Amino acid sequence: MTTPPTPRPFLKWAGGKTQLLPALISRLPPGLEDGSIRRYVEPFLGSGALFFAFAPRLPGLDCRLFDANEEIALVYRVVQARVEELIDRLGALGEAYGDADEADREALYYAVRDRFNKDGADPVERAAQLLFLNRTGYNGLYRTNAGGGYNVPHGRYRNPQICRPALLRTASQALAGAQVGAGDFAASADAVDDRTFVYLDPPYRPLTRTASFTAYSRHRFGDEEQRRLAVYVRALDERGARFMLSNSDPRNADPGDDFFDALYEGFAIERVPARRMINRNGAGRGKVNELLIRNYGGD
Ligand SMILES: C[S@@+](CC[C@H](N)C(=O)[O-])C[C@H]1O[C@@H](n2cnc3c(N)ncnc32)[C@H](O)[C@@H]1O
Repeated sequence: MTTPPTPRPFLKWAGGKTQLLPALISRLPPGLEDGSIRRYVEPFLGSGALFFAFAPRLPGLDCRLFDANEEIALVYRVVQARVEELIDRLGALGEAYGDADEADREALYYAVRDRFNKDGADPVERAAQLLFLNRTGYNGLYRTNAGGGYNVPHGRYRNPQICRPALLRTASQALAGAQVGAGDFAASADAVDDRTFVYLDPPYRPLTRTASFTAYSRHRFGDEEQRRLAVYVRALDERGARFMLSNSDPRNADPGDDFFDALYEGFAIERVPARRMINRNGAGRGKVNELLIRNYGGD
C-alpha cells in the first residue's frame, strides 16, 4: 500500500512560504494542540504553504482562508468541491501540451491565456486554465496589466508537471470543511474571536527602493497598506486572538530601518534567516532575514 502524499501547495506562488515552514511551525501557538484554539484564519492565502503543513492534522480546526485575488479563491473552491472534474480538464490540457513541439506549446499557452482573460468560462474550466498557466507560465508569477488581464509570458519549462492528480486529491481532502473567500484582509475580521489563530503573510515590503514587485500588480501593497494592516493586527490582538505575521526585514538593506519595529512595538519581533529570490535576475539572491512577529510565546 502506498501512503497518501502529505498535503502541499498546488500553486507556484511568489512569496510562497515553503522555505520558512520549519521556523513557522515551531512557533505555532500551543493552543492549537490542546484545543483551546478552535479556528484558523489566513487572510493572505497565496499557495497556502502553512495551512497545508499543519491544519489538516487538526481535524476539528475551523479554517477560514482568504485572498484578495478572486482567482485564487475560485481555484481553491474548485479543488475543494470538484476535484475530479478539474483533474479531467487539466489532464487534457497537460496532455495536449506534453505532446506538442515548442512552437505549438507556445501557441497553446497563449490560447489558454486568451480564454482565461475572456472570463465567462465555468469555474472548473477557469481553475484548470489558471493551474495550467501557473505551471507553464514564467516563474509561477501572477501578474496582471492595468485592465486586470493576466499577462505572464510563456515559461518554456522542458517538462512541466501540469496535472498532478494525487497532489490535487490530497489538497481537496485537506480543504474539506474549510471556508475560502475572496477579499481584502479586513474582510477576515468577522471570523476572528479569542479562540482564533491568525497567520498573516502580506506581500513583502520591497527590500530596496528599486526592487519592483510586479507579482501582485492588481493589489498594490505599499507602506500605507502595511500601516493599515498593523492597525488591523492590533485590533485582532485586542480581541484576544493569537497572531503570527511574516514579512521581509528592511534591515537587510538598511540596518537603521525600523519601519516594522515601530509598527509592531510591544509584540515579540524575531529575525530568522531565510533564503529567497528577491528579483528575477538573481542579483538579490542570498542570505536575508525574515521578520516573524507574534503576540504570544517569544523565546
Ligand atoms: C506573500 S503572498 C502569500 C504567500 C503565502 N503565504 C504562500 O505560502 O504562498 C501575499 C498574498 O496576499 C494577497 N493580497 C495582496 N493584497 C491583499 C489584500 N489587501 N488583502 C488580502 N490579500 C492580499 C496576494 O494576492 C498574495 O496571494
